[in-house]
Amino acid sequence: MKAWRVHEFCEPEQMQLEDIPVPEPKAGEVRIRNHAAALNFFDILLIQGKYQVKPPRPFTPGSEVAGTIDAVGEGVEGFAVGDRVQASALGGSYAEYSLAAAAKTFKIPDAMSYEEAAAMLVIYQTSYFTFTKRTTITPGEWLLVHAAAGGVGMSAMQIGKAMGARVIATAGSKEKLDFCMEQGAEAALNYRDASWVDEVKKITGRGANVIYDPVGGEIFDLSTKCIAPEGRLLVIGFAGGTIPSIAANRILLKNISVIGSYWGGYCELHPEFMAEAQADLFAMYEAGKIKPIVSQTFKLEEAITALQALGTRRTIGKVVLTI
Ligand SMILES: NC(=O)c1ccc[n+]([C@@H]2O[C@H](COP(=O)([O-])OP(=O)(O)OC[C@H]3O[C@@H](n4cnc5c(N)ncnc54)[C@H](OP(=O)(O)O)[C@@H]3O)[C@@H](O)[C@H]2O)c1
Repeated sequence: MKAWRVHEFCEPEQMQLEDIPVPEPKAGEVRIRNHAAALNFFDILLIQGKYQVKPPRPFTPGSEVAGTIDAVGEGVEGFAVGDRVQASALGGSYAEYSLAAAAKTFKIPDAMSYEEAAAMLVIYQTSYFTFTKRTTITPGEWLLVHAAAGGVGMSAMQIGKAMGARVIATAGSKEKLDFCMEQGAEAALNYRDASWVDEVKKITGRGANVIYDPVGGEIFDLSTKCIAPEGRLLVIGFAGGTIPSIAANRILLKNISVIGSYWGGYCELHPEFMAEAQADLFAMYEAGKIKPIVSQTFKLEEAITALQALGTRRTIGKVVLTI
């Protein structure tokens, strides 16, 4: 089968498209004939060797996939060849076939396309996890979502809104701000313009009750200036490339909480969470409350171009490889 391979940590441009054997599912695993594989920002960090998890080389990048069941390993129940599924891929998804643990494979609703299904897993699980296990949202609270036109940002806007939050979005271009308003944000602010901090205070009165931050750096720092007393500042990621620090007196004086939210780490300790969350997310999808927006698709062979688009902030919502 065709698969992208990383032999040593490198830039995405140095990945190789190779012919490798189709993998055999072990006990408890399924093999998927891939139709779509979604890109995540952390795929770039993983390829570069800059992510917190460093896989043994060579490896195939990509963590989420959708397609049809092609083979089932020993002891797997509930799946048959031909079932339409999405999964968290074991050993990569930028390939024609992927393996996945049956426990991390889910049958998808009939109305859901493979592109949507591949795009849905990581980002919606992350925001659902954040808003159910790391904090809660009380209807009417102000939720400020940074990088809201990106993958996790889009899911946070949609899930937050479905839970009753009033959403303020930030993003870095007019096109992205328009997207956020179409997604139901009440205000969309360009965080390349420093006035966004005062705007948040003006709109909310006392500041945002919940701030969802996948960017880090200065954006995190400035967020402490427009968070409401007793607010929750959620640490999601560092797409801006700088891991921020915070002086403990700022946490104390406004009675705020700074909360880490790492979905992958939680699932390792609580493997049952993924299926529970996915059941709720499918129900929200079928009720029309959430919808993954795939703004661009690329062929498997174009994975490098797709990663370049993602790494240079040119994408909106999710980017998916079609296979
Ligand atoms: N905690 C978790 O469990 C979890 C799960 C998934 C992802 N993450 C993390 O969340 C972050 C975002 O992931 P994603 O999949 O949403 O990525 P994405 O779709 O690429 O969106 C990231 C957005 O960040 C903004 N950004 C700001 N500074 C940037 C920079 N220097 N380079 C690139 N983008 C920059 C860009 O929006 P603008 O152009 O509007 O600024 C970009 O669209 C990553 O750090 C990822 O590792 C965390």
